[in-house]
Amino acid sequence: MQAQRYDALFTPTSVGDVELTNRVALAPMTRVSATAEGLPTNQMGGYYRRFADGGFALLITEGLYIDHQASQGYLFQPGIADAAHAECWKRVVDGVHEAGAKIFAQLMHAGSQSQGNPHMDSTLGPSAVRPRGEQLAMYRGSGLFQTPKAMTGEQIGEVREAFVNAARMARDAGFDGVEIHGANGYLLDEFLTDYLNTRTDAYGGSVANRVRLAAEVCRDVVEAVGADLAIGIRISQGKVSDNHHRWRGAEEDAAVIFSTLGETGIDIIHTTEYRALAPAFADTDTTLAAMAKKYSGLPVIVNGNLDDPRDAAAMIDSGAADIVALAKPALANRDWPRRVRGGQPLSPDLPTDLLGPIANVKDWEVVGARGDS
Ligand SMILES: Cc1cc2nc3c(=O)[nH]c(=O)nc-3n(C[C@H](O)[C@H](O)[C@H](O)COP(=O)(O)O)c2cc1C
Repeated sequence: MQAQRYDALFTPTSVGDVELTNRVALAPMTRVSATAEGLPTNQMGGYYRRFADGGFALLITEGLYIDHQASQGYLFQPGIADAAHAECWKRVVDGVHEAGAKIFAQLMHAGSQSQGNPHMDSTLGPSAVRPRGEQLAMYRGSGLFQTPKAMTGEQIGEVREAFVNAARMARDAGFDGVEIHGANGYLLDEFLTDYLNTRTDAYGGSVANRVRLAAEVCRDVVEAVGADLAIGIRISQGKVSDNHHRWRGAEEDAAVIFSTLGETGIDIIHTTEYRALAPAFADTDTTLAAMAKKYSGLPVIVNGNLDDPRDAAAMIDSGAADIVALAKPALANRDWPRRVRGGQPLSPDLPTDLLGPIANVKDWEVVGARGDS
């Protein structure tokens, strides 16, 4: 039988000035395998390199904390907050480049979803509202999240500066781009979220106000490093602490959010949904990715349950997105692009102990000695 070729996935494209050999990206995945000081290790270098060797044209790192204050979310999470972090990331980046792929650093402030931070006992958020749900056991958490302290105007300014500093560190490390983490219930998404943000200043109330901080961070980063790096932002409705959240204003909110972000000078928007192919809201048949594209006018990376290459290719063919990002399917198949292109079968299953009891990188993941492709 003739293997299907899914050509849509294997045409070149670019993000800003960064050229990609295909349209399949590794989605960001926190793996809590750094040193206690947030330095990436050789093991992590081997982990990322395997995806590059496997044909992913673009790798997006796990979320990296951006300062030595409140941004860290997890113990043993890597950082990009200082020159020592940048120096160590350079080795990881060089390995990925040698294998012919590009790599973006995901810049993350954990906000009130922080559950492990040696620098702070308390967490920060837009308002003193506790996130729903419970801390993640796979990242050494248990019980409820803390109720965060509502950020002052001065602290908002410090966070903006921290994103810029981290973007500069990413540039110094040789990254091709940065992805600002505006999704999944972390700080920038908390500002966007009606029930977590009860502020009465310019950052609260209307959706235009709630997206303000994300847009300011985008502009700040573009101004600081836009000439050197590709810059994107990741946006979602769902959260680590509230998977099923939907924007109350539905497409009207999407229009404000994506058009505002589209005007900041960034190069790309990355949307993530539980199922990327599903309509974004109850009263529409349009996906969130397609709305991002329509209202921002920017290229789009799409993520969420795109394991089946037919679904992944359909997102590109339909014009809804330009690049697909894979998380769990990539863990199950480190060489997903090569396999799909070569018509080889894909493994649908994650090895059972991969993310448990702790979601750290295991040595067999790096050397490929176990059944993970
Ligand atoms: C172990 C794990 C860690 C994750 N860490 C991050 C992260 O650091 N940053 C982020 O934006 N998303 C993170 N995600 C979400 C994934 O990027 C992705 O959105 C989600 O797994 C759905 O995509 P998939 O269906 O391809 O797995 C993580 C997911 C998993 C499974």
